[in-house]
Amino acid sequence: MNEACIPLPHPFALLRALPNMDVPHVRLGDYPTAMEHLPALGDVWLKREDASSAIYGGNKIRTLETLLGDALAKGTRRVWTLGAFGSNQALALILHAESLHMQPAAVLFPQRATPTAAENLRATLSHGRAICLRSIATFPAHWWRLKRNHPREYLITPGGAVPLGALGHVGAALEIAEQVGRGDMPPPAHIILAIGSTCTTAGLLAGIALARKIEAWPWDLPTIHAVRVTPWPVTSRAMILRLARATAREIPARGGPAVEIMPSMLRLHTRYFGWGYARITRAGIQAAEKFRVLGAPPLDTTYAAKSGAMLLDFADLPGPKLFWCTKSSAPLPPDDPEKLAGVPAFIKRWLKRAQSNASAS
Ligand SMILES: Cc1ncc(COP(=O)(O)O)c(C=O)c1O
Repeated sequence: MNEACIPLPHPFALLRALPNMDVPHVRLGDYPTAMEHLPALGDVWLKREDASSAIYGGNKIRTLETLLGDALAKGTRRVWTLGAFGSNQALALILHAESLHMQPAAVLFPQRATPTAAENLRATLSHGRAICLRSIATFPAHWWRLKRNHPREYLITPGGAVPLGALGHVGAALEIAEQVGRGDMPPPAHIILAIGSTCTTAGLLAGIALARKIEAWPWDLPTIHAVRVTPWPVTSRAMILRLARATAREIPARGGPAVEIMPSMLRLHTRYFGWGYARITRAGIQAAEKFRVLGAPPLDTTYAAKSGAMLLDFADLPGPKLFWCTKSSAPLPPDDPEKLAGVPAFIKRWLKRAQSNASAS
């Protein structure tokens, strides 16, 4: 047989497991992401979502793979997303959409000025089109106007927290099952991750239920520890389970088997949140420093450092722990000083404030 005729396995684990499902997908990331043991922390393993792409990685790449696949299937090349000034999703969209010949843009609202967020905002403004709002209060009106004035353009909600976005992470759960099956790590008893929009957590809940249903997960069910980084009610237990159930319903609707969410798998941790979204916490800084010293992937102060703090506090949980490295570790492209010189004065002031907050922290 001619070797050139052997089909390559599909890069998306959901379509590898269930090739007859009808799920839009474009390839943006390099999957599967590695699983690495971090013996200095005991039975801790890292899911290297941070390295999901050399362009820009992190957990949002899986969300974008299904949502941008949907946009392209609908014949839309103009895509908008919404998020905070330092949004990883907005930056990922802007840096990846070019390879798909799409025209991305972001509507961004103010947040706490931190070095991590400032770095992202500078990259977003240097390489893409963004409308920066002066206040989050004006966001609903902007979003509504965008929908009304551009009905043919594709709009991605904050975090891509819709069932189709979460299906990207259903694929991640099936990927874990494959990796555990071939011995990359022992079956995880715990999966630990930051929860912002609920998309990733909901997808993992639905994905492990699906893996169990298709007999790809013969091991004990893990507990998913979702560490809150955005306020209630966005990350309330009810909202997480609502998206997980909607994602589970999407599976048979797209040609897969019926799946039932098991709420007992979810444990929500609220005490690492601190004073608010993107507020730097002492425990988070300590976790980021510990990871740095160990040569582990970077933990950003908004998201991964807070889940890192939970991981360190719960070091004596029995069984293997799989830590979801959600923040991209790819180097950012250089800023464009000319573009940054042209941004509105209130953005310049915000960037300056982030710098002074850096020296203070
Ligand atoms: C670095 C990082 N970690 C974790 C999350 C939380 O993921 P989700 O919004 O899917 O809950 C995000 C969301 O933007 C993120 O950017």
